[in-house]
Amino acid sequence: MPLNAPVSFETVKPRPRLLATLIAAGLCAFVGQGAVAQQTTDAVAPEASTAGSSSEMRKAATASNWMISAANPLAVEAGANILRSGGNAIDAMVTIQTMLGLVEPQSSGLGGGAFLVYFDAASGKLTTLDGRETAPLNATPTLFQDENGEPLKFYDAVVGGRSVGTPGTPALMKTAHEKWGQLPWNSLFDPAIDIATTGFEVSPRLAALIADDQEKLSRDPEAEGYFFDKDGAPLAAGTLLRNPKYAKTLQDLAVNGTVNFYQGQIAQDIVDKVKGASWNPGVLSLADFATYHVKERPAVCIEYRDHDVCGMGPPSSGALTVGQILGLLEPYDIAAMGPSSAQSWRLIGDASRLAFADRGRYMADIDFVPMPLTGLLDKTYLAERSKLLDRDTALETVEPGMPSFSHAMKLADDEAIELPSTSHFSIVDIYGNAVSMTTTIENGFGSRLMVNGFMLNNELTDFSFKTHSDGVPIANALAPGKRPRSSMAPTIVMKDDKPVIVTGSPGGSRIIGYVAQSLIGMIDWNMSPKDAIDMPHLVNRFGTFDLEAGTDAENLASALEGMGFKTDIRDLNSGIHAIMITEDGLIGGADSRREGIVVGE
Ligand code: GLY
Repeated sequence: MPLNAPVSFETVKPRPRLLATLIAAGLCAFVGQGAVAQQTTDAVAPEASTAGSSSEMRKAATASNWMISAANPLAVEAGANILRSGGNAIDAMVTIQTMLGLVEPQSSGLGGGAFLVYFDAASGKLTTLDGRETAPLNATPTLFQDENGEPLKFYDAVVGGRSVGTPGTPALMKTAHEKWGQLPWNSLFDPAIDIATTGFEVSPRLAALIADDQEKLSRDPEAEGYFFDKDGAPLAAGTLLRNPKYAKTLQDLAVNGTVNFYQGQIAQDIVDKVKGASWNPGVLSLADFATYHVKERPAVCIEYRDHDVCGMGPPSSGALTVGQILGLLEPYDIAAMGPSSAQSWRLIGDASRLAFADRGRYMADIDFVPMPLTGLLDKTYLAERSKLLDRDTALETVEPGMPSFSHAMKLADDEAIELPSTSHFSIVDIYGNAVSMTTTIENGFGSRLMVNGFMLNNELTDFSFKTHSDGVPIANALAPGKRPRSSMAPTIVMKDDKPVIVTGSPGGSRIIGYVAQSLIGMIDWNMSPKDAIDMPHLVNRFGTFDLEAGTDAENLASALEGMGFKTDIRDLNSGIHAIMITEDGLIGGADSRREGIVVGE
């Protein structure tokens, strides 16, 4: 049980005049109305504080002009200073990402990938950038099978060079900045370079994760030298940690852009590391770096109770699966039932199982696999499928549906494993731009390979390890140049063509449940972002109904069991960072299950 996790549905309070009174004239309506952040004091009790910050009281905030919610106080403060100095949300995104890669190296960084959902106030357009890692051109579909064609055990595949895909995060930062940035690129790296040089205090969460991962993390000499002391002991919370190699890498990015990362020495260093790994040497090559590019894709949206819930389409399953859950729930009066009702959770749980069934069958990298993208969110399809939920007990069997599609196809179900990891941050700037970005190196500490001061991802293990099931192909099978299916669900909710909620979470494939639940909290149950985040989690991914330990969710176990669900009481370590945009200003929350804060002015 994490420290100070939420415990009760009763803590939930209706928020004052919210979505019904959305800004009519856009965010700029409250620009300049004062610069005092009001840090509310109704946040839950503090998580173990990140050294050097007063994160205790900073889990909820209101503001007039801008707001940032992210997983680490140093990252939020660095981003806040960018906004204070006239930068916009994209500038702040670059600074926050570079700081997260330093202070939260287990979750995201230069060696990983990310998805950005972006609302651009000047054009009024919502779009997305896909900075997902790609499979090496030399990879084969059986990369994660043994000599007998059997799938490798998960961690046998993760640790070492084999699982590393071509990183996309540096390219995403650069592409986004070229399109929409405002401050000079080279000015955005100073905060992280500074802290990498002078040092930061290892947070309690980072210290615990290092200690927990000692065996795997100490296999790589650079990682061992960084995360363990000279006697081999894991760094304790509060230890001052410097990362001069990371500072040097950031200097290079600041001065040269991403040239050296994708076409120069940094690419060579990563390739050497992956190919020379003593565990599972990989097949990444310079050609993979030279050909990597970020893809701008249209946001995938579903209409839900007069809102447009928009997010990241394939190769992420995030927006489609969150969208399906909401679309399946639309005919049911979840608002009247409320968050304490077992029937609410039966509906949400079975809607999630139906959506995960479609996810496992149909969702993958759309540039490689024909996908019924429109069919999966088609109103008629979802309305018909939601009739399955019109009952009092859990569904006995859950099968994928038959969304309309122009292609004939036969696909088998994917069982790719995705364990909790990743980081999410949300930004609204003074100009009315909004950033929702989920960023990852996949597993905690990724492949456990460290190079030039940052960790390399293990994103390729998000592919199905099997290519076929009973001779039928699996959509999310690995192929050269393909992007592994993700669950990341950075989300911007629009109302009357303006952003009203910016949210997302880490958590492996539970991301989908966390994000759907927070949206239901804010839209159906009239909760503030903080209350929606703190609400006890109940997550169903097509198996057991996972109930958050130590919370009111436990009290629903017997009712849900009685309906036919199997339940599992466990930690559910989301990291939701959400901002709501109302006509009265910005309201934000940071997840008490992690170390982040929300700040606004
Ligand atoms: N590796 C986590 C995700 O992409 O969902």
